[in-house]
Amino acid sequence: MTRQKELDRLHKEITECEKCPLYISRKNPVPGEGSVTAKLMFVGEAPGAREDETGRPFVGRSGDFLTTLISGIGLSRSEVFITSVLKSRPPKNRTPTRSEIEACRPYLERQIEIINPQIIVLLGGVAVSSIIGPWKMAEAHGKFYKVDKCTYFITYHPAAALRFPTFKDVVKADFEILKQELR
Ligand code: URA
Repeated sequence: MTRQKELDRLHKEITECEKCPLYISRKNPVPGEGSVTAKLMFVGEAPGAREDETGRPFVGRSGDFLTTLISGIGLSRSEVFITSVLKSRPPKNRTPTRSEIEACRPYLERQIEIINPQIIVLLGGVAVSSIIGPWKMAEAHGKFYKVDKCTYFITYHPAAALRFPTFKDVVKADFEILKQELR
């Protein structure tokens, strides 16, 4: 089976998923989108209202900022892969629970396995703590970490950067570090 077929099959599985109660309140599951051969994968927290309506990741306000940051490093959304820890929206955008994260984890793990990106960019504390453990964002951001077979890069979630203007410059500076690594 080709990697694209494998990814399509996985995304169909996610679409039909009822492993946690979020399937009841969601309008659409949001598996993620982008290139199956992406060198860079971005992992956020969970879909928000706009993502829930469209079934596409990062298409709201924080998505616009993420898209600008991606263009800033010379790439388009279609050249990278964008997803989140949760594939369904938590009601009122509340923080994902541990059991929701555990139920969804195998999907992200399989996406990573199929795409096998060079660098996985963890956007914000939920992505960091769900995937590599509870690290202090203030100390961990802007750096690369090799854990098992994967290289991770940590930065703040675009939504945090929009909420707190000082984070915006920090995230932009982090993306410059990422850009240098990709040269
Ligand atoms: N925030 C996320 O973490 N993921 C999305 O898809 C949208 C907003």
